[in-house]
Amino acid sequence: MKTIDDLGDLRGKRVLVRSDFNVPLDGTTITDDGRIRAALPTLKRLLDAGAKVIVTAHLGRPKGEPDATYSLAPVAARLGELLGQDVALAGDVVGDSAKATVAALEDGQIALLENIRFDARETSKDEAERGALADELAALADAFVSDGFGVVHRKQASVYDVALRLPHAAGTLVLTEVEALRKAVEDPERPYVVVLGGAKVSDKLGVIGNLITKADKLLIGGGMMFTFLKAQGYEVGSSLLEQDQVDTVKGYLAQAQEAGVEIVLPVDTLVAPEFGSDDFETVAVDAIPADKMGLDIGPKSGQLFREAILGAKTIAWNGPMGVFERAAYAEGTKAVAQALVDTEGFSIVGGGDSAAAVRLLGFDEAGFGHISTGGGASLELLEGKTLPGIAVLED
Ligand code: 3PG
Repeated sequence: MKTIDDLGDLRGKRVLVRSDFNVPLDGTTITDDGRIRAALPTLKRLLDAGAKVIVTAHLGRPKGEPDATYSLAPVAARLGELLGQDVALAGDVVGDSAKATVAALEDGQIALLENIRFDARETSKDEAERGALADELAALADAFVSDGFGVVHRKQASVYDVALRLPHAAGTLVLTEVEALRKAVEDPERPYVVVLGGAKVSDKLGVIGNLITKADKLLIGGGMMFTFLKAQGYEVGSSLLEQDQVDTVKGYLAQAQEAGVEIVLPVDTLVAPEFGSDDFETVAVDAIPADKMGLDIGPKSGQLFREAILGAKTIAWNGPMGVFERAAYAEGTKAVAQALVDTEGFSIVGGGDSAAAVRLLGFDEAGFGHISTGGGASLELLEGKTLPGIAVLED
């Protein structure tokens, strides 16, 4: 992939940057600004080089028309604080306000275009429609830098089509992410241990299928563990269960055994009568009461997972071990995060939820090998897929 250096002298040039500013919001308050902070190295570098920086990004999934709930205004404010300089926010995506805002930029100044998904053409399946928006975006700039790693799995106008229309390069975040994740996929130092969690097995089928041929051990926690336990013949009470995936999971268990890949399942779980209840207890996985649901892995499982992680040279983690947003159900996720910090192996935290969990639980990001800003994008890389937003930069 071409880098910013390959774009030559950028002083006075208008550089369009695609960032991923899809941050969690509580009203207009950003509850985790990790993705904004991750965008800073590229933006600072371009500003220091004297470029006129124009950032395009999305927030949430508005319906292809302006919707104040999804305005990037809180992001512009936070970005300005972090950069220590004003970030002009255009009132539209590529309209008169965007054009005027870009025209007013001086060298070393930055503007943010309004939520790109306010324009329905951004996510259109029709190439000509996306192309028309990409033309308008490209007309605002002299070069394009793709740095929104979290969206590189999307074939969208501001991610894919615009790169076909301007001299382009990968930003630092995209380069760092791709390097770290590809290493795990293509050439991991062994033993290679993958920890998978999160609510649904069905979201992770692709990644499980690919990892069975690549990883040495797969540790399974989170809501998806109950479908695995069911496939092994355990009763799981009222825990989250994807009955229609039980046969697929049985297939994976057989495939793993044949390939010599160890699938490690929890041996205990924290159960309660319902989500939110403080009446919880730890039980062995062969003794889950019929009227209770599992909400986290138990302490013995945490220890088992820890030992596997400490013995690994490469560890990829995607998905929390339990409902970590509630302190009582966060111990399993904490145990895994702590083991990732303590291991001498290279640890990769992928997936929006795991990265958010790490920060929410108060871990220092510096303790991990790599924390990915991508949810779907990091999963698809681990699945071994070709991502359109990366492929377009590699031409
Ligand atoms: C994400 O949050 O994973 C990215 O910003 C992509 O968002 P999307 O799933 O709405 O395309």
